[in-house]
Amino acid sequence: MAGKSKVTLSVIKADVGGFVGHTSIHPEILDTAKERLHNAKEKGAVLDYHVLRCGDDLELIITHDRGCDNPDIHGLAWNVFTVCTEVAKELKLYGAGQDLLKDAFSGNVKGMGPGVAEMEFTERKSEPILIFMADKTSSGAWNLPLYKVFADPFNTAGLVIDPKMMAGFSFRVEDVKGGGEITLKCPFETHQLLALIGTTSRYMVSTVCRNSDNEIAAAVSTQKLSLIAGRYVGKDDPVMIVRCQSGLPAVGEVLEAFTFPHLVSGWMRGSHTGPLMPVSFYEANPTRFDGPPRVIAAGFQVADGKLLGPHDMFDDPAFDSARRLAGRVSDYMRGHGPFEPHRLPEDEMEYTTMPEVLKLLEGRFKKA
Ligand code: 13P
Ligand code: 13P
Ligand code: MG
Ligand code: MG
Repeated sequence: MAGKSKVTLSVIKADVGGFVGHTSIHPEILDTAKERLHNAKEKGAVLDYHVLRCGDDLELIITHDRGCDNPDIHGLAWNVFTVCTEVAKELKLYGAGQDLLKDAFSGNVKGMGPGVAEMEFTERKSEPILIFMADKTSSGAWNLPLYKVFADPFNTAGLVIDPKMMAGFSFRVEDVKGGGEITLKCPFETHQLLALIGTTSRYMVSTVCRNSDNEIAAAVSTQKLSLIAGRYVGKDDPVMIVRCQSGLPAVGEVLEAFTFPHLVSGWMRGSHTGPLMPVSFYEANPTRFDGPPRVIAAGFQVADGKLLGPHDMFDDPAFDSARRLAGRVSDYMRGHGPFEPHRLPEDEMEYTTMPEVLKLLEGRFKKA
């Protein structure tokens, strides 16, 4: 019955090559991806799709009825990225195939380089969804806005006004360095949650569910490229899906969390701290010191698996002040040049070439 079927929303992304440098994506890459997904839709392999980009990251937004971690859907995305990489190589785009870290596809793109945020749900009477896509940062960037949206009544009025939200939300948190995951229930375990997710380089919120009925509300890509590759290959440039309204935070409550351009790690060479600037689609071209980090938000109404949209959610002068503040914070942070805390601490740069630089100086340290 229409409106009762389960639908899966998969957002799968990769940097397959930048234009120019790490700024944006060449139109031929976008056309290639669209053509491949169009063919998949014609064959009935997917219900609907959209291709977007944030900075140099290619974002595949796909609806289907096969559930999360489906090998056919992941295989389709992997093929799109592989074909696009071929185009990127022909055009000698920058870092062609940057995020494809393995050669042979083995059923799931997780652990192979691309980032994935997925959720399966039963469509409600109306299903407004926001998809956030960031460039020049990592998955921990979503921790602060997710906390605000789902646990902070100063951000989300619905937590105190809407009886359906009163019981709060549960956050699943992954320890991307130590392994393992934990679920913490807010508001009861707010302090425990913050004790973890304030460490954005290690603990990442992966999903959020409503306590009253365990309904899925948000899903995030938590893949850390450097941990897969064992070296610096680029930032994770994560994606996030958030369902809105009718007992979940309103669209405007979710977007409100981005009026504060909080500091995230990424920016130049993935080794700096800078503000996350909310921008409209056409402004997602990080050129100042390869940044500052950007986030775009694509709004969709999902109707029987169809993706109505995208609506460019940050294309609103109400976000100008956040952008201005992000610009001022950029000036201030850049003033530090190569010094911390603008430059990330050494242990967060362990997969960069910094150890090689230090090695060159090794023999020159004399006992004082
Ligand atoms: P719902 O409770 O229907 O989501 O309405 C809330 C709202 O739209 C406030 O902006
Ligand atoms: P991306 O992770 O977006 O490719 O950026 C890499 C980089 O080094 C930017 O300076
Ligand atoms: Mg790149
Ligand atoms: Mg990128």
